[in-house]
Amino acid sequence: MKTPPMGWSSWECFRCNVDCMSDPKNCISESFFKEMADRLAEDGWKELGYNYIMIDDCWSSMLRDEYGRLQPDPHRFPGGIAQLADYVHGLGLKLGIYADFGTHTCMGYPGTTLDKIETDAQTFASWGVDLLKFDGCYSDAYEQAEGYPLMSQALNATGRPIGYSCGWPAYRGGLPPRVNYTLIRDICNSWRNYNDIEDSWNSVLEITNWFSANQDQLQPFAGPGHWNDPDMLIIGNFGLSLDQSRSQMALWAIMAAPLIMSNDLRTLSSQARNILQNKVLISINQDPMGVQGKRLLQEKGHIDVFWRPLSNSASALVFLSRRTDVPYLYHTSLSKLKYTAGSYKAFDVFTGETVSLPTHTTQFTVSVNPSGVVMWYVYPTTYWD
Ligand code: DGJ
Repeated sequence: MKTPPMGWSSWECFRCNVDCMSDPKNCISESFFKEMADRLAEDGWKELGYNYIMIDDCWSSMLRDEYGRLQPDPHRFPGGIAQLADYVHGLGLKLGIYADFGTHTCMGYPGTTLDKIETDAQTFASWGVDLLKFDGCYSDAYEQAEGYPLMSQALNATGRPIGYSCGWPAYRGGLPPRVNYTLIRDICNSWRNYNDIEDSWNSVLEITNWFSANQDQLQPFAGPGHWNDPDMLIIGNFGLSLDQSRSQMALWAIMAAPLIMSNDLRTLSSQARNILQNKVLISINQDPMGVQGKRLLQEKGHIDVFWRPLSNSASALVFLSRRTDVPYLYHTSLSKLKYTAGSYKAFDVFTGETVSLPTHTTQFTVSVNPSGVVMWYVYPTTYWD
């Protein structure tokens, strides 16, 4: 996880649908994950880096087995998780699974209490799991301070490289001093800081607002191998317009966020697919330097400007409109956005056009749609002594 993980998860789009009788195509089951894995492998996702298929809550049986191990629901996962992992690996993908540190998962399935941490880590490793999402329902602050580091040790002790995605900070308010990000950065590969995403623009905005308002406390802890996680991409579902979908993708790229889609890959529109498969956007998200971007400023005209430094002296800029009227003409220059003297070019990530900016004081104008973005990849064309 040297760059933010990419892939697909069942949660936001399919939740805890366990009704395979009336909804066999969409219920949490072995055949469902195989179908989504096929789509990741066959529809161009894998080559772009979307390689994790993540099983979220509601996969397990209501009871542990006679040895105290977690086991999948036998009707919905008749072949077991090890076999599913083999299938996923055979496609060149990786398998993520969900567990919860507490007495129960958020949806009421068996949880992982302190005494079960080692067993569960061993079970996941024996199944060939590649990533664990460790949620935090039904445990308290004291237990979590013990349990999350213990699971990290237990996963390492299995000898299998298993990514570790922690729900811990989100359950403790997401901010220091209650959350010790110095520790979390050392034991988790990514962590949820804040509330669950829902299928709406409101939810995307609320999450963006929270991360921006608290960026000085969160941004320093992101870097190769350890990432803040503002939650899944909902592009391709019901709640976002085309502009809003572009906005989520652009903002998640700036935030160096994991790009975990939760949508129906079998029926995705070509518009949603184009946004999610935008190569320049993905390369910005996956920049090897791994510096999380920030909100630079908020204009009175309700334009927010976000910035992320990238490798090779490049950077990304996002102009987000919070307006609800008409496209807004925003006039500025790179010098106003704190760029140093020089000559630059800007590649518009969504239109493919390139703009020349002979000096950093060159004035330019972008037209930003309501709840939409303009996103630029900016690179220097000359260097000054
Ligand atoms: C809470 C998490 O934040 C969600 O992403 C999801 O995993 C649910 N729990 C599952 O119950």
